[in-house]
Amino acid sequence: MRIVDVIEKKRDGKELSTDEINFFINGFCDGRISDYQAAALIMAAFIRGLNSRETADLTNAMTNSGDRMDLSEIPGIKVDKHSTGGVGDKTTLVVAPIVASCGIPVAKMSGRGLGHTGGTIDKLEAIKGFRTSLSRSEFIAGVKEIGIAISGQTGNLAPADKKLYALRDVTATVNSIPLIASSIMSKKLASGADKIILDVKTGSGAFMKTLDESIELAAEMVSIGDRMGKKTVAVITDMDTPLGRCIGNSLEVGEAIEVLGGKGPEDLKTVCFELAARMLELGGKGDIGGCRELVRKSIADGSALDKLKQLALRQGALFDPWDERAMDEAPVRYQVMAPFEGYVTSMRSELVGKASMILGAGRETKDSPIDPTAGIILLKKTGDYVGKGEAIAQLHTSSGQLLKEAEEMLFDAYVISSEAAAARPLIQAYIDSDTAIRF
Ligand code: URA
Repeated sequence: MRIVDVIEKKRDGKELSTDEINFFINGFCDGRISDYQAAALIMAAFIRGLNSRETADLTNAMTNSGDRMDLSEIPGIKVDKHSTGGVGDKTTLVVAPIVASCGIPVAKMSGRGLGHTGGTIDKLEAIKGFRTSLSRSEFIAGVKEIGIAISGQTGNLAPADKKLYALRDVTATVNSIPLIASSIMSKKLASGADKIILDVKTGSGAFMKTLDESIELAAEMVSIGDRMGKKTVAVITDMDTPLGRCIGNSLEVGEAIEVLGGKGPEDLKTVCFELAARMLELGGKGDIGGCRELVRKSIADGSALDKLKQLALRQGALFDPWDERAMDEAPVRYQVMAPFEGYVTSMRSELVGKASMILGAGRETKDSPIDPTAGIILLKKTGDYVGKGEAIAQLHTSSGQLLKEAEEMLFDAYVISSEAAAARPLIQAYIDSDTAIRF
């Protein structure tokens, strides 16, 4: 087989066989296929598309390109959660302790932030002493002992996706439903869970801007999971506006603790509680109504918050996560004032994420340092009325020199007008292999 023939076939819109897809992924991983040939094939797939069978084969080949985590020694149904990413998305920090406190084991491998979106690992590392690089045995022991462990990737999971994603990032081929679906699902399948819940974000701050596209992406991933024998469901949640009020690592941990303590912003609570209930349902804890009640109880009786404490202390935190000594605070604070009055009709979430990154919360490249205290508290969000000169946001940083650029970016992020916009539902759809419900 020759890669040039495979490229030509996809360029001409034909269907690739399983063997051709395996040949591509194996050759790309071992260096026989060059980056420029891989980029050509990926661009052809981007333009011509891949059908469900080809997408499943691509996922399978990428899943088999490295290690597969074996979680079988942990008793019970292991349910993994994945979010397609957004600004202020700290749901794992809330959902994982709730689910673990209700008796479903959580063995969660998470990533770091890159660009304008955050990552759970950076957020947890804002807690002094919290260790996120666990060996495989430490990871498993954590789940067995307290029902939860969260670690950066252990082992070499789906290396083909890592290579391919780096190439897609610089060849304008990220935004393709089959390529995103196979990328996400290859990592989830390699990480060893029995069942998978996907939080597919929709709106201006998400990969998928419309509900129709988001449903298509979700349905593709659900179908891949089910084909591979791992029941998968998806909840489509709004990412037109950043989730909650805090963006930035220590600020987001603080907000997650508020929600676990029964307080915090309503939008964040709604999304987290629904995801937690769906995870419990997948884990066999009863019907969705009963699972929502379990979530409510775990917050009301403090068991979810206590689970976060157990997790933090077991993974090396020096203090309880809510102790004021647990995280540093930014030395510089600055209020951004509304330039004129009106209603916030929409927010360009991506710009909010970028402004937070400018303040020090995000990284340009995989190895750049971050400032855990940096970030933004949104005092006004979509739907709110603001008076001229009223504070719309508070910037947190370690360096006053960063404020001006971040402030300008934030001005661009807010769309303020005289007419209020209609509210968007937070939970927009639920998809499993039998159902697609729009709310
Ligand atoms: N997240 C991933 O892991 N892969 C993609 O392609 C897009 C988002």
